[in-house]
Amino acid sequence: MTAVRACSLADLPGVGAIRVVVDGWNVAVVSTVEGVFAIEDRCSHADVALSEGDVDGCTIECWLHGSQFDLRTGEPLSLPANKPVPVFPVAVEGEGPSADIMIDIPETR
Ligand code: FES
Repeated sequence: MTAVRACSLADLPGVGAIRVVVDGWNVAVVSTVEGVFAIEDRCSHADVALSEGDVDGCTIECWLHGSQFDLRTGEPLSLPANKPVPVFPVAVEGEGPSADIMIDIPETR
């Protein structure tokens, strides 16, 4: 694992997700009322971006067929997706809106 800067805190919506590309991974960086999470930006059911889905608590909902994923574990909470999506550890470095969002990315897939 390598900690890589994904964005700054100011880049994130209050609640919602953005897509960033980090070391070849498409990552949804997700701001929630419970903190910031990072999950691969690809639904496990089909190749669509989770970052375009709705965020509710610690879940993100795929916009295409509605599967929800737990942002802490990547596990699907509802069908039709039945496989987890990789999640990545997140650390916030610094203070205020310019704080850096750091993500631990695996060196190999
Ligand atoms: S593409 Fe995400 S649930 Fe079908």
